[in-house]
Amino acid sequence: MYYMDVTGKVAIVTGGAHGIGKAIVDALLDCGALVAVVDRKFETLQTTDRLLYIQTDVAKSDQVEEMVQTVTEHFGRIDILVNNAGISSMDYVVDSKEEDWDKVMDVNAKGVYLCSKFVSRYLQAQGEGGKIINISSQAGKNGYRLMGSYVASKHAVLGFTKVLALELAKDQINVNAVCPGIVETDMKRNERVIGGALRGLDAEAIKEEDFSQVPLGRTAAPQDIANVVVFLASKYSDYMTGQGLNVTGGMTMN
Ligand SMILES: NC(=O)c1ccc[n+]([C@@H]2O[C@H](COP(=O)([O-])OP(=O)(O)OC[C@H]3O[C@@H](n4cnc5c(N)ncnc54)[C@H](O)[C@@H]3O)[C@@H](O)[C@H]2O)c1
Repeated sequence: MYYMDVTGKVAIVTGGAHGIGKAIVDALLDCGALVAVVDRKFETLQTTDRLLYIQTDVAKSDQVEEMVQTVTEHFGRIDILVNNAGISSMDYVVDSKEEDWDKVMDVNAKGVYLCSKFVSRYLQAQGEGGKIINISSQAGKNGYRLMGSYVASKHAVLGFTKVLALELAKDQINVNAVCPGIVETDMKRNERVIGGALRGLDAEAIKEEDFSQVPLGRTAAPQDIANVVVFLASKYSDYMTGQGLNVTGGMTMN
């Protein structure tokens, strides 16, 4: 059971069906929130009275607007938005495809913009403050080979977080970002296969390399990231806004 209490708060978690997003959904539920799980695909649905599943592509403006309306009709309010949905693509810049750049920017950068825009309008009108938490990455602070579009998109998320934090501060809406390091999810497992192939290494060798780079000696579980998201969703972070918090086991310190 979590110490952070968000009882009765209504949260939207994008990309909430898998990986880090799923851990965030579970943590927010544990802390008492009502959660709208937004994803472009679901495999299993275990509905309860505190959970709502909405199929949405965060990169599509009309779908995002409709999603926000569905949440407010169902739960009657919104308090927390977690912009977690994301994708990655790997290649050397000189070999990369323009369409892959567009896909990554559409989901990771435009998706955060669209969800924030429609939820912020609602939060401002509601007039009771709120919390927006954007999942960036340590790739939002550093460069990594093979990840041109992803690194660009995650830097965009951090820049956008600062602007939105400034614009919404008067409304007592806190906007912060979390910058995870290496987290054991499907995205990371796929990256090890694709990145390994591009570098002539197998996925297991990349995994060993990953572990050796983390000062705390292990990669992250999705729950490690969810713990910090719950803190940012709670009243205990009321005096923080515009920040990008590293959750990297010490891998990134800037
Ligand atoms: N795994 C890592 O090591 C790591 C590190 C740093 C940051 N991140 C970030 O954390 C977030 C979650 O990553 P993850 O590792 O859990 O990935 P994942 O691939 O395991 O899960 C991502 C989820 O987002 C959903 N999604 C993708 N595109 C979507 C769209 N257009 N609309 C709605 N939902 C969509 C997917 O269906 C999936 O459920 C991403 O923003 C990712 O960039 C991950």
